[in-house]
Amino acid sequence: MTKIVTLPGDGIGPEICAPAVELLEHFVPGVEVEEHVFGGASIDAHGTALTDEVLAAAKTADAVLLAAVGGPKWDTTDPSAPRPEQGLLGIRKALGLYANLRPVRPLPALYDSSALKREILDGTDMLVVRELTGGIYFGEKTRTETDASDLCHYTVEEVDRIARVAFEAARGRRNLVHSVDKANVMETSRQWRQVVHEVHGADFADVQLEDQLVDSCAMQLIANPTQFDVIVTENLFGDILSDAAAMLSGSLGMLPSASLGNPDGPGLFEPVHGSAPDIAGQGVANPLAMFLSTAMLLRHGLAMETEAAALESAVDQALDAGLRTRDLGGTAGTDEAYAAVRKYL
Ligand code: NAI
Ligand code: MG
Repeated sequence: MTKIVTLPGDGIGPEICAPAVELLEHFVPGVEVEEHVFGGASIDAHGTALTDEVLAAAKTADAVLLAAVGGPKWDTTDPSAPRPEQGLLGIRKALGLYANLRPVRPLPALYDSSALKREILDGTDMLVVRELTGGIYFGEKTRTETDASDLCHYTVEEVDRIARVAFEAARGRRNLVHSVDKANVMETSRQWRQVVHEVHGADFADVQLEDQLVDSCAMQLIANPTQFDVIVTENLFGDILSDAAAMLSGSLGMLPSASLGNPDGPGLFEPVHGSAPDIAGQGVANPLAMFLSTAMLLRHGLAMETEAAALESAVDQALDAGLRTRDLGGTAGTDEAYAAVRKYL
């Protein structure tokens, strides 16, 4: 039987998680959904954002669906106080989730809420694959009175496995991978490039591979986003490029993500946005990023491609028919948005 662990978290998290669970139950008959407290809610109940019990439950699940954590209640200047975000980093690390996938596909119905012109956006459909557990964020850090350093370190194995994720993803898409690095300057990038080409030559020669320098990629994302299919890059570059790419599609309330790791463990699926404490409890949160994250869970977590595509298509159709939550300039609440999507299933 399929088991999904849900972590509603804080703020609007529980509001957008509840209808997503109904969607899961619709698409996966008999699914066992196990809900756990996480983030700020877990700090209140247990004094820590991620308990051993929740981690153990997550490890036995087929996939984990996370809404959002955090809020002013847990903001503190005390460095020793527990913080909701520790739960996010903790669970990603403990589950070995080294590949972060963020699809960017601005919908024609929402072109007007993007900062870019319709002509430039039209046809944009890309997937940013970011390495999530290596590189400069995890390298040795030093600091004295007069200097500081962060070490960028990658093993061949770390690059090899993320390259495979990107090539595999491209096969189900337009068969094109841009590998983004700074090989004209950085040694880690030169090895990155070599390893990506070795993986490509050995196992993915059917996929087209292009190398691109990160500064050029940043420019091209804004100037000509339709040229990209899959972008694969290291942790720091991916952090920056994925946020830039995300803004092509207008609202934060629309963006899903998946974090994947070892093939025998669960993936983690979550919207890109936070817990939106400013609108929590009002029933006005846009649940679409959460629904699209649920679609990614079906696709990458349960290998249910048909169902994933059906859910994505229902979201598209609801928007085409005029569904607009407040963040998209409309008046629809969370329940209405859910009902509008249900209509197209
Ligand atoms: P946020 O993403 O929660 O909100 C930014 C703005 O976007 C707010 O005005 C909010 O109302 C709006 N917004 C976000 N999601 C929305 C949705 N689904 N529907 C309608 N409007 C939406 O980011 P912010 O305000 O910087 O952070 C709030 C809290 O969330 C903080 O405690 C932060 O640490 C946490 N956070 C958690 C994340 C996670 O759980 N992955 C990611 C980012 C922030
Ligand atoms: Mg970021």
